[in-house]
Amino acid sequence: MNLLVTGAAGFIGSTYVRTLLARHAPHAPEAPRITVLDKLTYAGTLDNLELGHPRLEFVHGDIRDAELVDKLMAAADQVVHFAAESHVDRSITGAGDFVLTNVVGTQTLLDAALRYRVAPFVHISTDEVYGSVESGSATEEHPLRPSSPYSASKASADLLALAYHRTHGLDVRVTRCSNNYGPHQFPEKVIPLFITNLLDGRQVPLYGEGLNVRDWLHVDDHCHGVDLVRTHGRPGEVYNIGGGTELSNRDLTALLLKACGAGRDRVRHVEDRKGHDLRYCLDWSKARTELGYRPRHDFTAGLAATVAWYREHRDWWEPLRRRVDGGHG
Ligand code: NAD
Ligand code: DAU
Repeated sequence: MNLLVTGAAGFIGSTYVRTLLARHAPHAPEAPRITVLDKLTYAGTLDNLELGHPRLEFVHGDIRDAELVDKLMAAADQVVHFAAESHVDRSITGAGDFVLTNVVGTQTLLDAALRYRVAPFVHISTDEVYGSVESGSATEEHPLRPSSPYSASKASADLLALAYHRTHGLDVRVTRCSNNYGPHQFPEKVIPLFITNLLDGRQVPLYGEGLNVRDWLHVDDHCHGVDLVRTHGRPGEVYNIGGGTELSNRDLTALLLKACGAGRDRVRHVEDRKGHDLRYCLDWSKARTELGYRPRHDFTAGLAATVAWYREHRDWWEPLRRRVDGGHG
């Protein structure tokens, strides 16, 4: 079986690929062969991938390159599509790349998947498509009310993917997950940004009052959920994949300060994010009842292990911080 995975030089896709490769002996004949297609934007790094693994091929390219995508899709049996511009703050200062990659790139992949009837096509979406959920939790039927250019571009891609199922009968499956954390996350997202700032003796920029709430999901649990959808999900269905640990940014920051042995003086309150969603919260009972999904990682232990990983892997994150520093203090 040939699996095409897009965006797997990034955080979640690379975790997914490492997990699949580790499941079998390197030369096991029954194990999937994986082709990664990644543009290596600022967010992608080959340090995330086991290059040289006998069942892994890396292709450097853009998901909007129709000729390249056609060639790769012709050889693929299944697709898991992670590639995206993924950072909300960047979409506020410039939305162009978000539309090009998240919308046009997804459509390019869907067209090629349709030509070769590649199935399933698992599209990785996000809980942000529901917008702020101020009380209760969003099921898969909740209206889509994206707030940022990022989440609007993800909602567009998500709907396009579902339209290819409805119109063409393509076996598309969509996942919408909550905020991921864990090793290998690019140090612009709040948890790795704050950890690496604290390890460097800097302050952490907390937006507004820090009262916004996120539901935290360990990246390994997310990858487990994605694979359940790939192997046991139903065509045309959406599956929420939640984490089960709701925290305000203020409480999250307090945990990170403690884990890094830092005091409150290291928090700098800065101007709030424009259009900042107050809260995300998923109802993931469909994934639980249909697929047997449940998050296995305890947040306290997962966060401690994540802080330890960043402590021990300066060689991984210092070059990435240099790519983006200037934007964060
Ligand atoms: P990331 O930013 O770490 O990685 C994205 C990867 O996509 C990078 O390797 C980048 O080089 C690649 N890429 C970007 N544009 C490309 C293009 N045009 N062609 C080919 N490759 C391209 O992102 P992530 O956090 O790993 O997120 C992966 C997916 O999961 C995204 O679709 C994101 O919207 C979704 N998601 C992320 C989270 C989260 O908490 N990180 C939560 C919900 C959903
Ligand atoms: O909910 C899923 C989404 O989670 C994904 O779709 C996105 O790809 C991913 O980036 C993430 O979006 P968020 O905007 O929730 O994540 P971020 O890490 O950027 O911010 C988390 C919270 O922390 C948010 O309320 C804003 C706040 N924050 C963030 C940064 C970067 C700060 O207070 N200070 C910061 O410097």
